Amino acid sequence: MKKRVAILISGGGSNMVKLVESMQADHPAEPVLVLSNDPEAGGLKKAREMGIATAAVDHRDFKGDREAFERKLISVIDRNAPDILCLAGFMRILTPVFINHYAGRMLNIHPSLLPKYRGLHTHKRAIDAGDAEAGCTVHEVTAELDDGPILGQARVPVMPEDTPESLAARVLVQEHKLYPAVLKRFAEGNREPVFLS
Ligand code: GRF
Repeated sequence: MKKRVAILISGGGSNMVKLVESMQADHPAEPVLVLSNDPEAGGLKKAREMGIATAAVDHRDFKGDREAFERKLISVIDRNAPDILCLAGFMRILTPVFINHYAGRMLNIHPSLLPKYRGLHTHKRAIDAGDAEAGCTVHEVTAELDDGPILGQARVPVMPEDTPESLAARVLVQEHKLYPAVLKRFAEGNREPVFLS
């Protein structure tokens, strides 16, 4: 039986597209849902064009009640009975209510070499710090923000003339390689980290 994968997005969903495209016939997983907290997210249209079921739960309808929002998310997601959740450009902070419900089977991709630069503006911070390298990390999601066991990392050089935008573009190329590689391994029950450089 293939592992059933739900992918959560907030925007364009470029990582989601790569994950869906990677789950071909002989792959141990299959995409069963793409969900966004923004009904206008561009990734929802891309998912529909790829024939994947989609849903949207607008966090603004819950007026700051994070737990009510997450209970609605869980009810919509679990209708598709996923085995694995992939957060892919999902920009809402999750509380233990949601994280505990999917403990041990929820992944996230973060655009830094964790544990460096948890949180936002990772590329600007790497440039401002004068780092020679940057990159991205896929990790299991735990209650600590951008923490949890590392399942994969990819490194890129930081160039002297880099802006946050040029560095983000270089890292994104690696994200699109790393996340599918980690998902395949994770779906096979293998938690050995993937390192790309
Ligand atoms: C990416 O930089 C990813 O690292 C972060 O969200 C950004 C946008 O991702 N999590 P996507 O294009 O929506 O997949």
